[in-house]
Amino acid sequence: MTPTNLLDLKLSGQTAWVLGASGAIGSAIAVILAELGVRVWLSGRNETKLQEVCERITRAGGQASVQVLDATQSVAVDDAANAIARAAGRIDILVNSTALPTFGKFTELTDADWDRTFQSKLMVYVRTMRAVLPHMIEKGGGTIINISGKAGRLPSPAHLPGGSMNAAINLLTKGIADAYQHQGIRANTIAPGPIASERLNALTAQLATIATAKPEYMARKGEPEDVARAVAWLASPLSDYMNGIVLPLDGGSIPTV
Ligand SMILES: NC(=O)c1ccc[n+]([C@@H]2O[C@H](COP(=O)([O-])OP(=O)(O)OC[C@H]3O[C@@H](n4cnc5c(N)ncnc54)[C@H](OP(=O)(O)O)[C@@H]3O)[C@@H](O)[C@H]2O)c1
Repeated sequence: MTPTNLLDLKLSGQTAWVLGASGAIGSAIAVILAELGVRVWLSGRNETKLQEVCERITRAGGQASVQVLDATQSVAVDDAANAIARAAGRIDILVNSTALPTFGKFTELTDADWDRTFQSKLMVYVRTMRAVLPHMIEKGGGTIINISGKAGRLPSPAHLPGGSMNAAINLLTKGIADAYQHQGIRANTIAPGPIASERLNALTAQLATIATAKPEYMARKGEPEDVARAVAWLASPLSDYMNGIVLPLDGGSIPTV
């Protein structure tokens, strides 16, 4: 059964910009939004992977376009937001799902490692929101969904740079929700636990090298589609009373409320 059979999320005809659409989670998000009738714009640096996702969507009858960009560059992000708004007429949904992996022992991580994580995650989300908000406000509103991660609330010893960015994104997104709610903007965060992906394989390998790390036992790993279905719900007007939340998506594995 496809998601469209489960419930009409009233997303058909909307336009979404998905950052990290060449990645494991971002591509699943783009595919599911397209299945729900959303016209998706796919961004990342890897044009080949983006074209593969685009073809998968269009072959299935969806609407997708590729906008290649390096989101560490403010000008490139601004130009892309303006180009999408011009071509599509509006940007209803922004999804941020980017990061470069920076895993390792705290004492061995360099300033450059920390800066790479800062630039490829937190600052990407800052840049895209700053670029898209004026377009959303001009059209009466929009929905922002930022992918952070469980390690923003539960520190993982091999993943302190990414975890620190996740904690910052949780706060930043709530701040954007508060600041722009009266202009029709909703901004929410999804904080996934481990999701089956190359990224998770790299983290697991690093954790194995750190003596203090505790292995994580779960009934099953999360799948990218688990995150994508939550994005679809948060993007939908059916969730329009949900604003500024951090939604844990970790199979219930975080040992806090
Ligand atoms: N996988 C997990 O277990 C897990 C768990 C919790 C949270 N998360 C979070 O979920 C998000 C997606 O993770 P994933 O597993 O899908 O990782 P992934 O497969 O490595 O995807 C990362 C994405 O980030 C994009 N990206 C990186 N730097 C970029 C830049 N400068 N400009 C534009 N795009 C850039 C990559 O695109 P290009 O290579 O095309 O540039 C890629 O599409 C990340 O924020 C990650 O921290 C993942």
